[in-house]
Amino acid sequence: MSLLTDKKILLGITGSIAAYKVADWVRALRREGCRITVVMTEAACRFISPLTMAALSGNPVHTGMFAAEAPETIPHINLAREHDLLVIAPASAQTIARLAHGLADNLLATIALASSGPVLVCPAMNSVMFQHPATQANLATIRSYGYGVLEPDCGEMACGEEGPGRLTDWENARQAILTAFAPQNLAGEHVLITAGPTREPFDPARFLSNPSTGKMGYALAATAGQQGATVTLISGPTALAVPPGVRCIQVTSAAEMQAAVMACLDAATIVVKAAAVSDYRPAETQPHKIKKGQAALSLPLIANPDILKELGERRRKSPNFPLLVGFAAESRDHLKEGARKLKEKNLDLIVINDIGGTETGFGADTNRVTLLDRNGTQEDVPLLSKEETAHRIWDTVARLMADNR
Ligand code: CTP
Repeated sequence: MSLLTDKKILLGITGSIAAYKVADWVRALRREGCRITVVMTEAACRFISPLTMAALSGNPVHTGMFAAEAPETIPHINLAREHDLLVIAPASAQTIARLAHGLADNLLATIALASSGPVLVCPAMNSVMFQHPATQANLATIRSYGYGVLEPDCGEMACGEEGPGRLTDWENARQAILTAFAPQNLAGEHVLITAGPTREPFDPARFLSNPSTGKMGYALAATAGQQGATVTLISGPTALAVPPGVRCIQVTSAAEMQAAVMACLDAATIVVKAAAVSDYRPAETQPHKIKKGQAALSLPLIANPDILKELGERRRKSPNFPLLVGFAAESRDHLKEGARKLKEKNLDLIVINDIGGTETGFGADTNRVTLLDRNGTQEDVPLLSKEETAHRIWDTVARLMADNR
């Protein structure tokens, strides 16, 4: 079950060359369990065929105000009532003008006027049209109605011009759609999250590290944004894209991560340490690559700072300290080790993570965690995607935040 399972989305497609791009959005949304109904304006039908959209959505496509096959129905009213979210993508300058002025001269505009639910508008047009004061004023007007507007991307356009006006990419649209459905439990919070491994070099070509891919920490960052938080992510080296709307500070070593965490701490109301920090680093880093045969066969190590423990110690002295969440990566004695770390590091919550199995280990897309809070309350979360696991963690964080107030 994801936030999108069984959600009903009405997708309005208007006359823009970017219409073909939303064909992929429909496939992606259906893969996540959404039910999609498509409405197309007359101009949209010139850019992409209703047949394509019917096949991809698995539902008839609506194009006209008066349904010839069922004249007794009133399509715009029925369609306006039957969805959880109206997404208009691509939204042309003409459609945005219609929405701003309350015109009801085609099926899509009429549905928008008759809808009382959330509306997400994704503009796509020539950049001069987008920047024209008339379009900007119309966008300001629809924002004042409470409509969400996803800014278009900048770049080269189909017409050859460069500038803002390209349809936003799927990752941004997905994040906005999820935000429309997520509980806004973290509205007003500033969440600081660490993710990924650290690397501790011993010469310019080699380092000590671990197999963390950062997936859990990045899922926490994306979902915190969906639940309304301002998010700062401090990330060790990963191959992942930074989630939309998240401020990311890239670091390499544990020492750099420690410095970045301490520098960002003042703004945070919640800190989640999901990073797999190397406990040790080489005692010396050679300036040049160590040649075969030159190296001793053992590598002297020194301990890295325990960043979370340092935060827990600061928390003892500061009553308004952010809510503190740690992770425990364990391959045995999970609960006992998790409880020990919760206490020793003075945390509000610990997420105990089994790194043993293929479904829950480093790099997996799923996780099975146990949440243990400062009051001894334990919750076993079943095997879920890392995104769903992250939402469950935020549910518990929100409960603990409410207890604090
Ligand atoms: N952590 C940290 N700094 C370190 C080591 C760990 O901030 N130098 C944090 C991790 O981000 C995690 C928690 O401490 O939130 C527990 O990390 P884990 O690797 O499970 O445990 P350790 O404290 O390193 O203990 P051990 O290696 O003995 O299991």
